[in-house]
Amino acid sequence: MKILLIGKNGQVGWELQRSLSTLGELVAVDFFDTELCGDLTKPEGIAQTIRSVKPDVVVNAAAHTAVDKAESERELSQLLNADSVEVIAKETAKLGALLIHYSTDYVFNGGGDHYRLEDEQPAPLNVYGETKLAGEIAVATKNPRHFIFRTSWVYATRGANFAKTMLRLAKEKETLAIINDQHGAPTGAELLADCTAIAIRAENANKSLYGTYHLVASGETTWCGYAQFVFDVAREKGIELAIKDVNGIPTTDYPTPAKRPLNSRLSNEKFQRVFSVVIPDWRQGVERVVIEVSGK
Ligand SMILES: NC(=O)c1ccc[n+]([C@@H]2O[C@H](COP(=O)([O-])OP(=O)(O)OC[C@H]3O[C@@H](n4cnc5c(N)ncnc54)[C@H](OP(=O)(O)O)[C@@H]3O)[C@@H](O)[C@H]2O)c1
Repeated sequence: MKILLIGKNGQVGWELQRSLSTLGELVAVDFFDTELCGDLTKPEGIAQTIRSVKPDVVVNAAAHTAVDKAESERELSQLLNADSVEVIAKETAKLGALLIHYSTDYVFNGGGDHYRLEDEQPAPLNVYGETKLAGEIAVATKNPRHFIFRTSWVYATRGANFAKTMLRLAKEKETLAIINDQHGAPTGAELLADCTAIAIRAENANKSLYGTYHLVASGETTWCGYAQFVFDVAREKGIELAIKDVNGIPTTDYPTPAKRPLNSRLSNEKFQRVFSVVIPDWRQGVERVVIEVSGK
């Protein structure tokens, strides 16, 4: 099996380099590569890369992920998250290749307090969500042989993310105010990469599995609960923290350029059932990352 990975150096892309390497021949590109174009701002270059590599599977882990910046960079966000994705979908369809693409809880408006199923109506609140939804539609309509994995609150040892920022701030500050009315599941890039490899293997044996899946860690928390857990693990491992008070605040007290959904709970039941896997509670992966980044 020949796999083309686009976006090899992002949080998820980095972990995919590991998890996909045992499935077959892996060709991994990023936007600064010169030999093969991996730059999503150059759709024709990406198309040329797919035509010359002729992969059996394309995994697209690249995206415009800066949610607040996207509000003032709509065109760039649309180009990376939707227009280039459409080109990838068309080129993979021509080859009959499997396309794997990642999307987000931000395609929903965050209403209710339930775990959202895959077939619920999307209604994004911000530009990032709108362009990711456009990317989903492009994949689903242009290449029937696809997996769209919607995930949330991604973290990893590599790259910038909430868990690492909180750990740094907790060493510097005695008080922090953190949002406590947005609910979701912090999801490790490792988990996403491992589950992606499982899905590719399964699809190889059964071509009827394609479609959209919610792929998130189990359980739920708030940003405030997430931060508290990071601090608890750090203290338990003997890391010295300055933090004394953590104040939960509503979203309305922390205005940002992009509006965010309050309910980001996604049900991962379909993924667990179809691929016969058990997805662990979010705390398991977060604990590992805190230990890894702190060298404990
Ligand atoms: N992060 C989250 O919390 C989250 C939540 C839900 C869904 N997702 C989705 O999960 C997927 C993986 O996200 P992630 O967390 O791994 O994000 P990430 O760490 O930001 O990775 C995205 C990668 O795309 C790269 N990139 C930027 N511009 C590019 C271009 N023009 N051409 C090619 N690559 C370009 C980025 O490079 P630079 O870093 O150098 O810009 C980065 O390496 C994305 O589809 C994202 O939308 C993420």
